[in-house]
Amino acid sequence: MSLTIFSGIQPTGRKHLGNWIGAITQYVAGQQRGDPAIYCIVDLHATTVAYEPAVLRERVHDTAAILLAAGLDPERCILFRQGDVPEHAELCWLLASVTPLGELNRMHQFRDKSIAQRELVAAGLLLYPVLQAADVLAYRAGEVPVGEDQREHLELMRDVATRFNARFGDALLVVPEHRIPAVGARVRDLQEPERKMSTTGGSEQGTVYVLDEPGAILSKFKRAVTDSDDPPQIRRGEDKPGVTNLIEILAAVRGVPPERVEDDLTGARGYGDLKVAVAEAVVAELAPAQERYRALRADEGALEEILAAGADKARAIAARTLADVRDAMGVGAPR
Ligand code: TYM
Repeated sequence: MSLTIFSGIQPTGRKHLGNWIGAITQYVAGQQRGDPAIYCIVDLHATTVAYEPAVLRERVHDTAAILLAAGLDPERCILFRQGDVPEHAELCWLLASVTPLGELNRMHQFRDKSIAQRELVAAGLLLYPVLQAADVLAYRAGEVPVGEDQREHLELMRDVATRFNARFGDALLVVPEHRIPAVGARVRDLQEPERKMSTTGGSEQGTVYVLDEPGAILSKFKRAVTDSDDPPQIRRGEDKPGVTNLIEILAAVRGVPPERVEDDLTGARGYGDLKVAVAEAVVAELAPAQERYRALRADEGALEEILAAGADKARAIAARTLADVRDAMGVGAPR
């Protein structure tokens, strides 16, 4: 049986190390296993909070160039923009009929984001997880690589698929599994290690961006908050969120278990050695991608061509699912 992999990423803000470790590197790995592996830049989701239309277009290009620079290959995966495939919005509407309002109201991200809105809490913000369910279910994907913060949305998506199948026809939709990495699923803010690294809630000094200069990366890691253990202890622990975060970032970037990092650093003189080791590893990881990014981002015509070709392939798959769903729901003219 072939495995369809699907994931989505927002074209908002600047991509950071959390996106890179938690998601983007998993997307690249998914190209080997996915048949197909499908990655979507979710511009419709980005319209649920205040935004500027012209900036949104720029951000889609930024995000596409980052994903390609990271190693996504349009020959080996389907990379496209959500707004180019209208089936996503249609399926969102159809799935809304089997989604309990109460569950949407309880979603953590809805609560956090609606509190943060100054002028308008758009109904789209409430429907956000239903659109996300539609993204995945339209492709009957079996696996969804995401970071820890998406767990709740994935659970809702599974419930929606199960409820849809129970109501309209067994096995019409595939109930997907999440794929959350063992290490690096929740990269933390370097200044406030009790919160996740994020473009919206985090601190500028605590957020390492994929496109940060090496000097900025070094200085952010050097100033990372650790703890006052004396002597310093380079080990993970619930009481040591800052140090745990640094160990996990280094492990994820080196592709080794965190125990290895702890063992390797037992002779270190203090947290300074750990900070420099992480910074150097992150710079080495990002530098080649940054160089590729500059070349890719400069050619917007080529980016649009890649997205358009991806959308054609995506639409062909999604249209088949939509035809089945419309038929099962009795919507539109009979087949
Ligand atoms: P978004 O754009 O906020 O984030 C993209 C991916 O990055 C992961 N991530 C993190 N991983 C580890 N540590 C962090 N600090 C960190 N911050 C972000 C996220 O878990 C995500 O995998 N709702 C989604 C986009 C989406 C989607 C989908 C995802 C739309 N449709 C369908 C999967 C399937 C989001 O806002 O991701």
